[in-house]
Amino acid sequence: MQTGESASAPQRIGVPREIFPGEKRVATVPDVVSKLVKLGFAVVVERGAGELADLSDDAYVEAGATIAPSAAELWSASDIVFKVRAPTADEVALMHEGQTLIGFLWPAQNPDLMQQLAAKKVTALSIDALPRTLSRAQKMDALTSMAGVSGYRAVVEAANAFGRFFNGQITAAGKVPPAKVFIAGAGVAGLAAIGAAASLGAIVRANDTRAEVADQVVSLGGEFVKVDYEEEGSGGGGYAKVMSEGFQAAQREMYAQQAKECDIIITTALIPGKPAPRLITAEMVQSMKPGSVIVDMAAEQGGNCELTEPGKAVVKHGVTIVGYTDLASRMARQSSTLYGTNLFRLTEELCKTKDGIINVNMQDDAIRGLTVIKDGEITWPAPALPAAAPKPAAKPVAAVEKKSGHGHGSSGPMPLKTLLGVFGAGALAFWAIGAYAPAAFLGHFTVFVLACFIGYMVVWNVTPALHTPLMSVTNAISSIIVIGALVQILPPEAGANGRPDQLIQWLAFAGIVLTAVNMFGGFAVTRRMLDMFRK
Ligand code: NAI
Repeated sequence: MQTGESASAPQRIGVPREIFPGEKRVATVPDVVSKLVKLGFAVVVERGAGELADLSDDAYVEAGATIAPSAAELWSASDIVFKVRAPTADEVALMHEGQTLIGFLWPAQNPDLMQQLAAKKVTALSIDALPRTLSRAQKMDALTSMAGVSGYRAVVEAANAFGRFFNGQITAAGKVPPAKVFIAGAGVAGLAAIGAAASLGAIVRANDTRAEVADQVVSLGGEFVKVDYEEEGSGGGGYAKVMSEGFQAAQREMYAQQAKECDIIITTALIPGKPAPRLITAEMVQSMKPGSVIVDMAAEQGGNCELTEPGKAVVKHGVTIVGYTDLASRMARQSSTLYGTNLFRLTEELCKTKDGIINVNMQDDAIRGLTVIKDGEITWPAPALPAAAPKPAAKPVAAVEKKSGHGHGSSGPMPLKTLLGVFGAGALAFWAIGAYAPAAFLGHFTVFVLACFIGYMVVWNVTPALHTPLMSVTNAISSIIVIGALVQILPPEAGANGRPDQLIQWLAFAGIVLTAVNMFGGFAVTRRMLDMFRK
């Protein structure tokens, strides 16, 4: 059956079992199958395709799919094939003219595959070639969803290899300082790793050559560590560029310092189309504390660390270096669900008529970008899109950060006009209250406004990680109520019957005792908590 407007009967989407060694993901999940069926498609899944992602054949059938007993039957029955990994030569042999293949094909790295597919006169859509700068394409951006899962998993792998807690703890058996995690490269995977490590309670630091990601690092609970060298690191389109020798030397110095201080390093630095930048040298590994962990996410592109062995976890100089290249596959069910949803969104774009027939519209920028072969003709690479905007995946966090206005000390000052406006309105409100309110009210009101102002200034400039010690110190400060109790206990007032009121004195005494516990206990706990954060 031909793909495109010429076909009349609904098309059949086939999902084979992935045969790449160790690959556990599958290109669609039962929840997505039912949506594809609603879009008018028939779905056929190879027997056992979802088994390694904990998705049973029965679940697919329940969602509306049929099961093909073998790969040969699946490929021959399908008009469109959804895959995760690029097909092997054996799989290409099973393809037929007019079929459409969608998956991670990496056309630049697989020129032979491109020729084989073209010879089969198929249409091929490579999901990794999606123009990520188009905001409309975000919902189909499988590279981003896979990198997000992988960044999270990198932290889980690090935690597994690391013999300590991530968060600081005070236990009866003693005090445990929080782990220090350094993330090299704050792209999609790096930001996911920052979020995951911070949520586990570690002290997280990160560096990237693109200074514009600093706000995002902070908003996820990390600290952005700058290289002491002025150079613009953005290569356009949200990607980095190769930095000058001077910058690299300054960066090495900073990384060497971080290696000495941190317990865990997760590297995600990448410049598309280039070998991974070597950021962690053998000497840096040697300088790390025994038991430290490095997770090198760029292992497949040659590694950000000199001692990484791709696909393996090795121990060198007492440091575990994890070079797994299948982090997304290690969370197969989650990544299959996200990937399946990305492909569903793509199918929606390909089938705007909702009649179960796709139309590979080469006038559509997103579709044109990822179509690498059209009816047997190689159409890759797509012409560059005009004016590349910053990479979309990172945008929402930055936007939220800007909106919040305070950014925990990291965002810029309020514009002068707004500031004057706020002050003007405030002054007017005060004048109005002062003109009409009674004098006693005005005194209390002034104290209230000053208290609000001081409270705001104090709380808003505290890093979120320090909010727990802040609470305990404010708790201690609230013991100021002790003054009330002291006033009652010191000059014994005469009660209604002319004698000092014993009951009030005893109550005041109890108040002082309880408040003292709150006060001294509060300050002691705060000190212990702050000790955990001291570097
Ligand atoms: P990305 O392009 O979103 O992020 C890479 C970041 O590295 C960018 O922010 C860039 O500015 C930064 N960078 C480049 N050169 C640098 C340098 N010299 N110093 C500091 N920062 C630098 O890429 P994404 O999607 O986050 O992927 C990151 C890496 O993780 C890639 O190598 C990717 O192949 C890999 N990956 C590995 C997986 C695995 O299973 N091991 C799975 C998914 C992704």
